[in-house]
Amino acid sequence: MDYVIKKLTEYKVPSNKILEFGSGTGKHGCLLAEKGYEITGVELSEKMFQKANAYIQKNGLIKKFKICCADISNFRSKDKFGAVISLFHVISYLTTNSKLQKTFKNAALHLEKGGLFIFDIWYTPAVLTLKPHNKIKEIESESLKIYRVTEPNIRYNDNVVDVNFKLIITDKKMKETSYLEETHNMRYFSTPEISLLANLNSFEVLKVEEFLTENDPSEYTWGVCFILRKA
Ligand SMILES: C[S@@+](CC[C@H](N)C(=O)[O-])C[C@H]1O[C@@H](n2cnc3c(N)ncnc32)[C@H](O)[C@@H]1O
Repeated sequence: MDYVIKKLTEYKVPSNKILEFGSGTGKHGCLLAEKGYEITGVELSEKMFQKANAYIQKNGLIKKFKICCADISNFRSKDKFGAVISLFHVISYLTTNSKLQKTFKNAALHLEKGGLFIFDIWYTPAVLTLKPHNKIKEIESESLKIYRVTEPNIRYNDNVVDVNFKLIITDKKMKETSYLEETHNMRYFSTPEISLLANLNSFEVLKVEEFLTENDPSEYTWGVCFILRKA
């Protein structure tokens, strides 16, 4: 969030009203709300929406952070915002051109003149150079032991990686094991592709850089951040 606040300041966000596309558990939005920003979150998953509301309440931020359970491609609010932020690859979850175009249009619709659209995506040159690999991750706490097996499959003709997650979760106290499986379909993007979407929706591309490090993107940069300004 320090990185996001740095970008909002550096590119002169016109107001402290922030629209967060894909607000997830609400943890990052809460950090912004604690710094004085007024956050409106939009989250598709009912489960995440519930979790985030509980987290906002727990942190006493109800007046500064509101969330609605909706799709970022067709969400509507009467309010205008100084920035739309969409972090941790939310835009990569939009795998069709139609959803992407609607989402960019929607971001522009909800921004004041000069407002910023800040998001990070999976970057085509890195995905095709480094290639996603199978991974096994083990996490253990006092009460749980979790194995996560990640099996990605690239659909080259669609610019999408289907990331299949298998989780084996053991409750150490109850000595019970459960199994969970889900697939995340992640689209990867090139700079000309994003520039085209930006220009079609009255955005100027201000900066393209590696998320967090601010380095120029290369074929080894998986997560790239775009900073756009509404004309
Ligand atoms: C990787 S998480 C990132 C969450 C959050 N931005 C953060 O910083 O922690 C991606 C989130 O985007 C949400 N999402 C994906 N597609 C969406 C859509 N079309 N509309 C709203 N939320 C969406 C998912 O449900 C998930 O919570």
